[in-house]
Amino acid sequence: MKTLVTESVAKAAGFIKRGEIVAFPTETVYGLGANVYNGEAVKKIYNAKGRAFDNPLIVHVASKVDIYDLAAEVPKLARDIINEMFPGPITVILRKNEIISGLVTAGLDTIAVRMPASKIARDLINQAGVPIAAPSANLSGSPSPTTFKHVLEDFEGVIPCVLKGPDAKHGLESTVIDCTTSLPHILRPGVVTVEDLRSFSKMVEYVQNPGKVKSPGIKYRHYSPKAKVKIFDSGKHPEVSDPDRTAYIGLTHFTKLKGFSKLKSKLVCKSPAEYGKKLFSFFRRCDMDGIKIIYCESVEEQGIGLAIMNRLGRATKTGS
Ligand code: TXA
Ligand code: MG
Repeated sequence: MKTLVTESVAKAAGFIKRGEIVAFPTETVYGLGANVYNGEAVKKIYNAKGRAFDNPLIVHVASKVDIYDLAAEVPKLARDIINEMFPGPITVILRKNEIISGLVTAGLDTIAVRMPASKIARDLINQAGVPIAAPSANLSGSPSPTTFKHVLEDFEGVIPCVLKGPDAKHGLESTVIDCTTSLPHILRPGVVTVEDLRSFSKMVEYVQNPGKVKSPGIKYRHYSPKAKVKIFDSGKHPEVSDPDRTAYIGLTHFTKLKGFSKLKSKLVCKSPAEYGKKLFSFFRRCDMDGIKIIYCESVEEQGIGLAIMNRLGRATKTGS
């Protein structure tokens, strides 16, 4: 299959209308989308990614009113978040409306809904005329794509269309919050922080292990480069024995780290936001460069640091 790379929203929307899948930019990461109401099209997403059918998709809308077609009910907390934070890098879990196929929600009676801040993503949804179900546009397990080139690394010749847009502004997937329970749980931390969400309700908690029923995606290895990812505390920096095949990403410039100056790949970030934004593209570049070990400096688990440590933790998991 030839993959069309286009900047034309109309052309990309045409694919969605014809029941095909399209990769498209958002402010978090690139998504791989299909018409939420077309089961055959949704299946193509799972097949292209090699994604397990028990891992549900996020449904993307272009306007807030569309949420009421997807959800059976929208509790007060969700309403407040939608009013104040949509469009943005945040996903709310709601009870689903019956018309939504269990294929999208992996058989759950809940649905994940997000309205991207990215204008090109919303233009695509508008022109397609339907909400778009979309996971991140990467092969299952690999780092999420933050540029259209990353999408092509995984799907050139496999999907019919990539809508080319700007690089992702945030580089980390949306924060996911479950609003269906009396105690609202953050299932996946992101650039919308726990602290931000506590301003809506003090009851909001981040649960590290929500269990596979609550968030099926959690049990899968994710975000992983081929290289081995090792997390270390800044105080205990590692010895580098093979600098040509070792990489470093973090906030500290280790001038005294033995072998540090010889490292082939290193990325010293100025802030946690930059660390989060560049993490996945750094992972992908390391794989291209034949890096074997990526040392990642740990950061404080607060603000966006919580999302960074979550992704690093998942990237170090072995198995699937
Ligand atoms: O930023 C993002 O969220 C990107 C862009 C494309 O919007 N999408 C994304 O999708 O990261 P994906 O499929 O890679 O991650 C969706 C996460 C998974 O962990 C999945 O298990 C969870 O959301 N999820 C989806 N529906 C759910 C539901 N009904 N209940 C609990 N978790 C759900
Ligand atoms: Mg993903």
